[in-house]
Amino acid sequence: MKNILFVASEGVPFIKTGGLADVVGSLPKSIDRNYYDVRVILPKYTCMKQELTQKLEFVTNFYMDFHWKNEYVGILHAEVDGIHYYFIDNEYFFGGFKPYGDNALFEIEKFSFFSKAALSILPVIGFRPDIIHCHDWQTGLVPVYLKERFQGNEFYHGIKTIMTIHNLKFQGKWSVKEVEDITGLSQYYFTPDKLEAYKDANLLKGGIVYADAVTTVSPTYAEEIKTAFYGEGLDGLLNARAHDLRGIINGIDYEEFNPATDKRIAVPYNAANFRKEKSKNKRALQEELGLNKDEKCFMIGVVSRLTDQKGFDLIACVLEELCQDAIQLVVLGIGEEQYENMFRHYDWKYHGKVSANIYYSEDLSHKIYASADAFLMPSLFEPCGLSQLMSLRYGTIPIVRETGGLKDTVEPYNEFEGTGTGFSFANYNAHEMLNTVRYAEKIYYDKKREWNKMVDRAMAADFSWNVSAGKYQLMYDWLCG
Ligand code: ADP
Ligand code: GLC
Repeated sequence: MKNILFVASEGVPFIKTGGLADVVGSLPKSIDRNYYDVRVILPKYTCMKQELTQKLEFVTNFYMDFHWKNEYVGILHAEVDGIHYYFIDNEYFFGGFKPYGDNALFEIEKFSFFSKAALSILPVIGFRPDIIHCHDWQTGLVPVYLKERFQGNEFYHGIKTIMTIHNLKFQGKWSVKEVEDITGLSQYYFTPDKLEAYKDANLLKGGIVYADAVTTVSPTYAEEIKTAFYGEGLDGLLNARAHDLRGIINGIDYEEFNPATDKRIAVPYNAANFRKEKSKNKRALQEELGLNKDEKCFMIGVVSRLTDQKGFDLIACVLEELCQDAIQLVVLGIGEEQYENMFRHYDWKYHGKVSANIYYSEDLSHKIYASADAFLMPSLFEPCGLSQLMSLRYGTIPIVRETGGLKDTVEPYNEFEGTGTGFSFANYNAHEMLNTVRYAEKIYYDKKREWNKMVDRAMAADFSWNVSAGKYQLMYDWLCG
């Protein structure tokens, strides 16, 4: 039996802002329990839903030396679907209305504390991992602290670490002087071959340098981040670590996202009856959101963080033109104000055609995945992307840009061979996107049988964790030697 510990800043069902939480919530459940004991450490945020925090049991607490103070470390525990979760409690760091705040320096302090606390609680909870699997910059200091101070102690000796990059854009950067002060790491660690990057301290870089293996969430993104365009300044380092870097595509929870059993959608359906049943969901959603009631109208869905990463500047460029077509557009998302307001404006101007839902809602997200005909995701970069996988699962055809995980998971439609599960375009260009959307419209309206066959193929594609969990297991075995 191998012990694997996930350390992450978010995880379903406890706290979610994006795809990281889906992965942390679903991958541990898919790892073979006969051979691996996977446990998860998360922060205990005050903003977690009360019905969940009520179920956490208090384990113990102690004080930990951190940033010239003695900080409270509470430990809570819960078991969900057979997985043990441990929570680090400290209201100073994890209070507030949302998990991440806007003060970059405080975020660094918060997650430095979290990383050190995650290592400190292990003897207390009596779990000695063979491997610590770290996720994103928030946990970048775990491999660093492990080597720097914990590994001298016999309990920690020989623990291996993996750094998984879900998004290279976020690195946790601040001035060396202040990070040195916060983390208590000596000057030795702040050189360009370790935590320093372009004169600043960089927590993700620390993780990449010190982890025994580095992964990211799709094979294409693993290649892309070795180039200057996608490398976010760390392409040199990633090339240097190319031998230890691999891309493993994400899966999604096929039980949670299942159109045949989904309680959140109006009418369940499956691969055999979607031709009759799926559009009943569209009808219900049109009713709910005040859109024109027309089951035949081509409905495009968007469920996303409203940021530049997701290609919203392309949409902004051609939205007026797109609104002249026979389409409906349903958007669910929060993020940059300019995009929130853009969709609100189009909702006002093209009421009945465009529905802007500027908030976070799991219920509505499922309804959109089930109701829309197509799902638009023209990302500038996309480490993996889960929304297009959810769309495929619900027979909603993704329209994507060929980057990162989008390229690895959506096979472009080929009308001559009758293959493909979606539509895609290569260049980051608004009219290339618009043309691709219009090509999809044309197939939908003029070749409905072909469209439905594409839905057949989309629903038959398998992006459950089956295959990818096996790849993580192979890596765990390889690292343990
Ligand atoms: P990222 O992690 O970059 O945001 P992913 O495609 O990997 O992108 O994952 C996004 C996840 O967040 C999906 O599960 C998607 O359904 C969900 N999501 C994004 N915005 C919202 C929202 N406003 N309401 C509900 N779910 C959302
Ligand atoms: C990040 C990426 C997204 C990926 C998710 C889970 O948030 O932006 O592409 O699917 O992490 O790995």
